[in-house]
Amino acid sequence: MAISGKTCVCAVIGDPIEHSLSPAIQNAAFNALNLDFVYTAFRVKPSEVVNALAGIHALGIVGLNVTMPHKEAVIKCLDWVDETAKFLKSVNTIHCKDGKLLGYSTDGIGALKALKENGADPHGKRVLMFGAGGATRAIAYALVQEADELVVLNRTVSEAQKLAESLKKCGKKIIVDSLSPDVIEEKISDVDILLNTTSVGMKPNINQSLIASNNLKSDLTVMDIVYNPFETQLVKDAKAVGAKVVNGVEMLIYQGAASFEIWTGQQPPVQVMRKAALEQLNRG
Ligand code: ATR
Repeated sequence: MAISGKTCVCAVIGDPIEHSLSPAIQNAAFNALNLDFVYTAFRVKPSEVVNALAGIHALGIVGLNVTMPHKEAVIKCLDWVDETAKFLKSVNTIHCKDGKLLGYSTDGIGALKALKENGADPHGKRVLMFGAGGATRAIAYALVQEADELVVLNRTVSEAQKLAESLKKCGKKIIVDSLSPDVIEEKISDVDILLNTTSVGMKPNINQSLIASNNLKSDLTVMDIVYNPFETQLVKDAKAVGAKVVNGVEMLIYQGAASFEIWTGQQPPVQVMRKAALEQLNRG
């Protein structure tokens, strides 16, 4: 890639940021389409978010991804945010266009696309979700537009209740309960898709899963949003019983693909992005 005075710059901000897969994914996509874009990463401390956004505006950085812990804090610096980001109070994509900073949330779209593109369209289905944090919220907001019923189980039940309350207006059935083995065993028998949106199973705790393997069955689709390790214990257990599985890296790719489309206006080369993510993960 030849960088020149005309090259458009994109970046991700977060803290920490050094393990981000986004530079590898986005640069591979820019190269594949021969776009004069480059993507880097900036570690930005929480106390520097406002200064960082002013700098991004001043420097004319075209596209920005925003990750933990800045997804809410950036909103006050933006000229406009889309409906989803407004509802979630969370922005993961910024587009600097005509001198304005525009904010979007592509996390939920990413999860929905990951399911659909892997042959597990949630339309009319019953979905069981583990978790009630920021990631769950984004995914649940996208899922309620399509699924028939959501069951949200969380270690802290009050958080699941808050989530269900905020989604009440969608008119879909949302059941909440605790993340206990008995509840999991009861609920799993009645759903089509299981989605882990907690951090359980993430490196270094690679042997952990919230569900006993004998509760999984072959007619389930099981998706994990944890992408490191590439195959979590949950995904391994689901594969072993013959269930359809969707790895966490799929959500990462499709939310990145949605950002890419916002910045460039081009169809994202998803297969190239997937290959880059897997290569980067394999490098450790
Ligand atoms: P994110 O924004 O990435 O979703 P978060 O808001 O911190 O992160 O949410 C993490 C989720 O993982 C929460 O649902 C959390 O449960 P609590 O609300 O009870 O904290 C869940 N989680 C994290 N570690 C867990 C564990 N060991 N067992 C069960 N749930 C866990």
